[in-house]
Amino acid sequence: MNSKEVIILGIESSCDDTSAAVLKNEYLASSVIASQSVHAQWGGVVPELASRAHQANIVPVVDTALKQAGVTIDQIDAIAYTVGPGLLGSLLVGTSFAKGLSVSTSKPLVQVNHLQGHILSPFIKQYNKENNTPDFPFLTLLVSGGHTQIVKVNDFYDFQIIGTTIDDAVGEAFDKCSKMMGLGYPGGPIVDKLAKEGDPLKCKFNLPKVDGYDYSFSGIKTSLLYFLRDQLAVNENFIEENKADICASFQKSLIDILLKKLILATKQTGIREVSIGGGVSANSGLRERIAEEGEKRGWRTFIPEFKFTTDNAAMIAISGYYKYLKGDFGELTATAITRFSK
Ligand code: KG4
Ligand code: ZN
Repeated sequence: MNSKEVIILGIESSCDDTSAAVLKNEYLASSVIASQSVHAQWGGVVPELASRAHQANIVPVVDTALKQAGVTIDQIDAIAYTVGPGLLGSLLVGTSFAKGLSVSTSKPLVQVNHLQGHILSPFIKQYNKENNTPDFPFLTLLVSGGHTQIVKVNDFYDFQIIGTTIDDAVGEAFDKCSKMMGLGYPGGPIVDKLAKEGDPLKCKFNLPKVDGYDYSFSGIKTSLLYFLRDQLAVNENFIEENKADICASFQKSLIDILLKKLILATKQTGIREVSIGGGVSANSGLRERIAEEGEKRGWRTFIPEFKFTTDNAAMIAISGYYKYLKGDFGELTATAITRFSK
């Protein structure tokens, strides 16, 4: 570890949150997130509106993050930013801003893969808190609106995706459930809240049969669609009268699917260090279940604080920090990458 304190400015703009954070070594000095409420009325993220909002937010967000950390731009050692995956227009705002800042300040750039940011979140340390970090190798269940993966993390720079969804992401299943029931967007937090008051054993859905550690969520979405259609044919108020039970049952099914493969992966790899990350790791049912299974099976579990579950720049800064230590710097010619091939 370097003896000199390394200060990293992280910038994240891959989807609908504009975020900046400052890390001093692994310690979080500031984190600012401007979430975009403009999308709610459209029932999903509208890419053009997202990039416009990023443009409006990025300067004040970065400025506030620096001020809250008590540092000036001259004191920063590197600018870490999300290079992808994400929405092109959104990524371009962060990418262009980071490059412009790099040119004007002569600070090096570090490019960060958004998913690696989620995976390395457990290494963000906070002042005046107990900071437990996983030992390598560990398994991460990465669950977001775009991804559902089991990743074997061998070290800060070596990630192996051992399981992935063959169709939809689990976050999409949460969002679709809410949409089908007319409950609003984003669906995950709404379903989570209603599920707390419902009976998780009330409704049954078809669970997928997929080999190995891979996932599938398209079938269960269809199963919910047909279930609602059949019940509404008998009682047009079925959703309104049973929404908590439907959400609780659907959420339980999604969690069962996630845990089945995660448990298999821990058994077959022998790895007992388990973390979760990504937007869906904010789900209270999933968090409880991971903690329970961990206790029962002797895992050490790493469940992020809520502020590190959804998109944030602190996770970009921590990934940037390790890349900085390795001397892995980005080029001004690099472009935003909407999708990685693996
Ligand atoms: O990681 P994230 O913020 O953005 C992506 O990279 O996709 O994840 C967003 C996803 C959405 O599908 C949202 O509904 C889901 O995370 N989500 C939740 C909860 N909070 C956010 N899903 C279930 N329960 C929650 N409490
Ligand atoms: Zn994300």
